Amino acid sequence: MTQELAPDVHDRSAGRHTGWWRSAVIYQVYVRSFADGNGDGNGDLPGARARLPYLKDLGVDAVWLTPFYASPQADGGYDVADYRAVDPMFGTLTDIDDLVRDAHALDLRVIVDLVPNHCSDQHEWFKQALREGPGSPLRERFHFRPGKGEQGELPPNDWNSLFGGPAWTRVEAEGDGEWFLHLFAPEQPDFNWEHPAVRDEFRSILRFWLDLGVDGFRIDVAHGLVKAAGLPDIGHNVEMGLLNTDELPFFDQDGVHEIYRDWRSILDEYPGERIAVAEAWTPTLERSARYLRPDELHQAFNFEYVMAGWDAAELRRIIDETLAAMAPVDAPATWVLSNHDVVRHRTRYGSLPRARAAALLMLALPGSTYLYQGEELGLPEVTDLPDSVRQDPSFFRDNGQEGLRDGCRVPIPWGGDRPSYGFGASEGSWLPQPARWQDLSVQAQTGDPGSTLELYRAALRLRRELPGLGDGELEWLEAPEGVLAFARPGFVCTVNLGAAEAEMAAPGEVALSSEPVVVRGGLVRIPADSCIWWAV
Ligand code: NOJ
Repeated sequence: MTQELAPDVHDRSAGRHTGWWRSAVIYQVYVRSFADGNGDGNGDLPGARARLPYLKDLGVDAVWLTPFYASPQADGGYDVADYRAVDPMFGTLTDIDDLVRDAHALDLRVIVDLVPNHCSDQHEWFKQALREGPGSPLRERFHFRPGKGEQGELPPNDWNSLFGGPAWTRVEAEGDGEWFLHLFAPEQPDFNWEHPAVRDEFRSILRFWLDLGVDGFRIDVAHGLVKAAGLPDIGHNVEMGLLNTDELPFFDQDGVHEIYRDWRSILDEYPGERIAVAEAWTPTLERSARYLRPDELHQAFNFEYVMAGWDAAELRRIIDETLAAMAPVDAPATWVLSNHDVVRHRTRYGSLPRARAAALLMLALPGSTYLYQGEELGLPEVTDLPDSVRQDPSFFRDNGQEGLRDGCRVPIPWGGDRPSYGFGASEGSWLPQPARWQDLSVQAQTGDPGSTLELYRAALRLRRELPGLGDGELEWLEAPEGVLAFARPGFVCTVNLGAAEAEMAAPGEVALSSEPVVVRGGLVRIPADSCIWWAV
């Protein structure tokens, strides 16, 4: 289906090194919840394609699409049954091809999700491996093992799944009884990356999407592919969870880097600076930087920043540690506040003013930034979803205690005064939207200078205009207790994380602020939980 690519649309920067990704603002589209093109209550690729002009107007540089591949959706599409097919719920290969083309015509780049640690139990390889039975070479593409105990009734080791319960499931079939490894849900068997067929298959998958014209990949569980030889026991209790950064025999093993060096050489064969960003939860920022050595990946998500509280000292420490960790490998820092796996930052930080201030702070930091759909609308986490609509696999495996990820995945409101608030033609959506979301819709906020949407639009416009923003360095400035102040060329950012208003000398002209500010007699009063951008 892949057609001849029109060079004028796809290879805009062929042969020219722009380092576009070093300063890029990348917008995460959670496809099922972004825009519904066919009125079935599920977001899809045609819906997302139709909203590209909105993203262009918002001012982002690139779009990251969460998995839209053929999948039974046991884990929101992170259980892939066919890496080269689009799930009918999301559209067709023609739809993704059209989306990439339209994005490029708007000068937006497109990053797709790649899920190499595991597939779906409905993937052809896994179905074959199950059918062929113990001893079959086809089982070697996964981690099948006999159990422990007299009858093999115990899991092969003590690893637990990140979604709760053992990381092993026993094959029930008569005469079988082997166990297979799944770090996530039982419907997500882990690939064995020691097997050459797995490596070859993913090289081919990378090329498939690069040929179609995508600008890069977000690599799911990038730190998990290689497991310690012999799959040794951990030996002690570990509190497992998606956000785990402990040292573990299945995470951050040195062997993963060889894979990324191989992938980098493939990316570099293609024109237009195709990139890869690692989802790698590692014990330290230094360990994350290892994925970003010059011959490996381009970026890694900064999860330390996501996990930080609304606290001046803590944020300053993480900003410093991030910049220090990235410098030796010459990688840009990345910043992120929200994604589809964590509680939306408006709710995490406890208020809309904090969320607005946090956005301005983040967008002023050196490097590249990831935005999660709906944060530009100031959406809160939806905390009262009925159990009957929940889909997060960890909700079912942990008796509901950790089923928190659905609340940030509720379809976003575009306009109108009734559900689905312009999300699609249907009255409902796969996860129900709260009442009164009309007030937060794109339509309701557009043109209102006090709205969060207009704040993001203004910030992204300034970020393009002011040469001092994006990639580069920062210098901390003296500031009152609870205030962070830093300078970049021609620019100063001041953010008050304290509980009270703070006063300091105005460092320049107010360019943008998350709350109204008063500057008088060369002094500025910075409201609590607010951020100001200064042109100097
Ligand atoms: C990280 C993804 O962001 C998350 O949504 C998914 O459940 C796990 N990886 C497993 O693929």
